[in-house]
Amino acid sequence: MKLCMIGTGYVGLVSGTCFADIGNEVVCVDKDEKKIKKLNQGSSPIYEPGLDELIKKNFLAKRLRFTTNLKDAINSSDIIFICVGTPTKKGSLKVDLSFVFKCTKDILRFSKKKKIIVTKSTVPVGTGDEIEKILKKRKKNFSIISNPEFLREGEAIRDFRYPDRIVIGSNDKNVFKIMKKLYLPSINKGTKFITTTRRGAELIKYASNAFLATKITFINEVANLCEKSGVNIEDVSLGMGSDNRIGSRFLRAGPAYGGSCFPKDTKGLVSAADKYKINLSVVKSVIKSNQERVNLLTQRIHKILGSNLKNKKISFLGVTFKPNTDDMRDSTSLKMIPYLCKKGAKVNYYDPSGEKKEFKKIKNCKYTKNIKSNCSGADLIVLLTEWDEFKSLDFKKIVKNGKLKIYDLRNLYSAEEMKKNKIKYFSVGRPNIN
Ligand SMILES: NC(=O)c1ccc[n+]([C@@H]2O[C@H](COP(=O)([O-])OP(=O)(O)OC[C@H]3O[C@@H](n4cnc5c(N)ncnc54)[C@H](O)[C@@H]3O)[C@@H](O)[C@H]2O)c1
Repeated sequence: MKLCMIGTGYVGLVSGTCFADIGNEVVCVDKDEKKIKKLNQGSSPIYEPGLDELIKKNFLAKRLRFTTNLKDAINSSDIIFICVGTPTKKGSLKVDLSFVFKCTKDILRFSKKKKIIVTKSTVPVGTGDEIEKILKKRKKNFSIISNPEFLREGEAIRDFRYPDRIVIGSNDKNVFKIMKKLYLPSINKGTKFITTTRRGAELIKYASNAFLATKITFINEVANLCEKSGVNIEDVSLGMGSDNRIGSRFLRAGPAYGGSCFPKDTKGLVSAADKYKINLSVVKSVIKSNQERVNLLTQRIHKILGSNLKNKKISFLGVTFKPNTDDMRDSTSLKMIPYLCKKGAKVNYYDPSGEKKEFKKIKNCKYTKNIKSNCSGADLIVLLTEWDEFKSLDFKKIVKNGKLKIYDLRNLYSAEEMKKNKIKYFSVGRPNIN
């Protein structure tokens, strides 16, 4: 099939490349000229394991191309995927749909023949209807369907190939067959193919993300109770997660959830519900609790280091919201590091995905190129992201100042082992044995 992906970001680039890899002819469009130039030179603008190789392979096979020419891309395709960002509007909980509507207007302007328009972007319930209104002049020329994306950054290729489910929402039943054909390689491997109304598909995506955010927030709050009551959160997670009705995933206590989806999608769901005068009180508390968690953990750092942070050396291992991605959107580090620097601390950070532009202008914050130089002389090491290379470090060898303190926000190490090695070790939701 001939496909056009509008928006060549984490979703558009990965899904476009994977669609090409199963034999489709794909054109990825972006308005960002730098991104397209980089892709045409053979390198990926994002960090995603395995993506570089897959782009090269399909680019050379001429199944995948990159352009900024939207008119040409639209007219050379039968199915157009909208994969642009849907961020939160500044100062509100509402979703900014301007990128989606801009694409829709461009599709109306440029397309000459009948097209299927698919929203892969996460959009509030009813957005497909709004898109239809924009296209009303030539309504018969378009089928507008919703096909929300569930891939996770860092595991995106695997998630695209072997998703738990594919959701297609359409009010025009004829397109289900076409979409089923497109996704046949995954369906043949056992992926569930769920068809519903367009509004149904839009809501499935928001409800799924809000539910996962709720699970994380719930276990984080239970972890706070564990710390005070001398219980180990890992025992609680195991005991709870062994119940099939609950399930073990998303039950690991840690920092506040972040990233490009959960923070904005929980807000987006609340705001969509407000429009219908429905009070999603559970999701509202999740948002609040998650925001409070960042402050709580920052205060914990204060407690570990004492009230005066002036000239205290803090070393961050990992700053992205999760491993195997370079995405910094809504990472806990974006609030923690500027706050600590403002209080006079000197922060070094190391992240396997490289230096971050977000910290370049922050006084007292420095990127280091490896773990050893990052941790050298540190008063406190904060383990924020669970990259593989942080999982079996010999801290005694890395840091030789003998007054080592570690705050492990991912519970990667054993508190008992740390005590044996005379390292002051703090983690999440475990009894303090220092
Ligand atoms: N990132 C994820 O893990 C993930 C997972 C599932 C769903 N989603 C959803 O998918 C959507 C896209 O997310 P993302 O992370 O890929 O965003 P992104 O910011 O990485 O990419 C969006 C791209 O769209 C481009 N763009 C915007 N307007 C354009 C236009 N008019 N013409 C051409 N290009 C345009 C931008 O330049 C950018 O490169 C969002 O709605 C998001 O919620 C994201």
